[in-house]
Amino acid sequence: MTQHAVARLEQLDAKRPLRVQAGNEEMILVRQGDQVHAYQGNCPHAGAPLEEGVVCGGLLVCPWHKAAFAVDEGAVCEPPALTGLRRYRAWVKDGEVWVDDQPLPKNEPPRHSDARTFVVIGAGAAGSAAVATLLDHGFGGHLIWLDQERQPAYDRTALSKFVIAGEMAPDEVSSLIEPDQLRRGHLDRRFGKVRVLDAKKRQITLADGQHIDYDAALLATGGKPVRPQLPGVDLPGIMTLRSREDAARLLDAAEPGQPVVIVGDSFIGLEAASALRKYGAQVHVVTRHEVPLAKQLGERIGRCMRELHERKGVVFHGPTEVERFLGQDKVQAVQLANGEKLATALVLLGTGVKPATAFVQGVPLGKDQSLKVDAELHVAEGLWAAGDIATFPHDGRPVRIEHWRLAQQLGVIAAANILGEQRRYNDVPFFWTYQHGRTYEVLGHARDWDRIEFVGEPEKGDFIALQCVREQVEAVIAKGYSDAMATLSQRMKRSLSLEEALQLIG
Ligand SMILES: Cc1cc2nc3c(=O)[nH]c(=O)nc-3n(C[C@H](O)[C@H](O)[C@H](O)COP(=O)(O)OP(=O)(O)OC[C@H]3O[C@@H](n4cnc5c(N)ncnc54)[C@H](O)[C@@H]3O)c2cc1C
Ligand code: FES
Repeated sequence: MTQHAVARLEQLDAKRPLRVQAGNEEMILVRQGDQVHAYQGNCPHAGAPLEEGVVCGGLLVCPWHKAAFAVDEGAVCEPPALTGLRRYRAWVKDGEVWVDDQPLPKNEPPRHSDARTFVVIGAGAAGSAAVATLLDHGFGGHLIWLDQERQPAYDRTALSKFVIAGEMAPDEVSSLIEPDQLRRGHLDRRFGKVRVLDAKKRQITLADGQHIDYDAALLATGGKPVRPQLPGVDLPGIMTLRSREDAARLLDAAEPGQPVVIVGDSFIGLEAASALRKYGAQVHVVTRHEVPLAKQLGERIGRCMRELHERKGVVFHGPTEVERFLGQDKVQAVQLANGEKLATALVLLGTGVKPATAFVQGVPLGKDQSLKVDAELHVAEGLWAAGDIATFPHDGRPVRIEHWRLAQQLGVIAAANILGEQRRYNDVPFFWTYQHGRTYEVLGHARDWDRIEFVGEPEKGDFIALQCVREQVEAVIAKGYSDAMATLSQRMKRSLSLEEALQLIG
């Protein structure tokens, strides 16, 4: 039997999906008036239970990383998910909701033959989202997808949270695009490092000398970790963390009970501190600040984070900075400006990234090495850029934001525009971090704020903090409050007053 009565219509709430079992299939029911839709039960991104999501403005928002799906057809509207939801037939008879447990066929776009060659450079967040979009739109020309990593297109964000904690093997990090998505269209995946991109000639030269001419190219090469110019910085044992190989190398070198010195109290530095503690290492963080992340999250939240790390055994050294790294054939100690000397055979530099654009010729680079794009992410004739390398206009100001979901959103927009659309970024930047078992989320991008209003107390548990300029909400930081954050992820697309935000949080 494939058809099952699974619920009564009156059990369904228009704002919250209901999880049901039909045969062997776990699915969610979403009510839209007297109509019901049935979809797969877990988010295609990282498996969040979608019955904990919220329906708002015609979208189902995932509780974990805020992917959004159209309620009426399950299509993906916002990353980090890159595919729509598996659909099932659902109908209502005599007040009873029935479903068929056989998935409906996917809607495949018609593929038209096309003589053009498009190249996507980079298979990280932005590049993968762009490729998924080009394939979804039925691009039928030659699509070349280049990356310098041998096994690219994986979820980099897991590296500092789970891989170096010893909780996930480097090759178990989830892929960004499913194999059946990749089989569509003429996708030509190539391993190779771009040595030169000549924007005027529309030509790419790889490190092995191969040339590729293109009609359109998308640059999505992300960030390159910065190694500060300090004596001894090139000694073996001093590492950075960007790729799966970096994570594997770090994990090989880390030993339970042995010290690791992390330079910098950035999000990556603190995530790594949490993960390496979990692995059993003695973790030391060298910081220039009394309170970590105070500039981004405010003093109160930063202080709570520091206390959390200290409770878990992380030792902070600062405010100070590294003067030099000591050692002969490999690092043996870190000399700090405040006179402390930390003995260690392993150092992780969490000292920021710079855009990986050194190979770009024929267009000017910004002071920070980024590529300035217009609102449609266009750099020059036939050239677009997305992700960590792009400085783009947002709320009337140029910004460069290093967030995973935003990089994917820019990748989607750039790909649509390469195909002739005129899309612009009109969403709310979203970022999450995971430290010592706690997830903190940030919506919006407040460069300045003059007050923070709290609901709940960060010292005690769940909270939501509204960063405001006068009475206007610029950004929201939360631990917990998943429903409010899902709703705010949509509502903050328009300007939001503090009063309205407090009402919405309830
Ligand atoms: C360990 C870690 C954890 C993170 N955690 C979070 C998080 O929890 N939440 C969040 O919002 N953000 C997080 N970030 C930031 C997020 O990963 C980045 O903002 C995002 O990856 C940017 O996407 P991108 O496509 O611009 O670049 P990337 O994802 O870095 O992809 C760039 C790709 O280009 C390739 N490439 C570079 N140069 C060349 C070249 N010359 N030739 C060929 N290929 C090249 C690289 O190999 C890479 O695969 C994290 C970053 C790191 C490193
Ligand atoms: S699990 Fe749904 S967006 Fe990540």
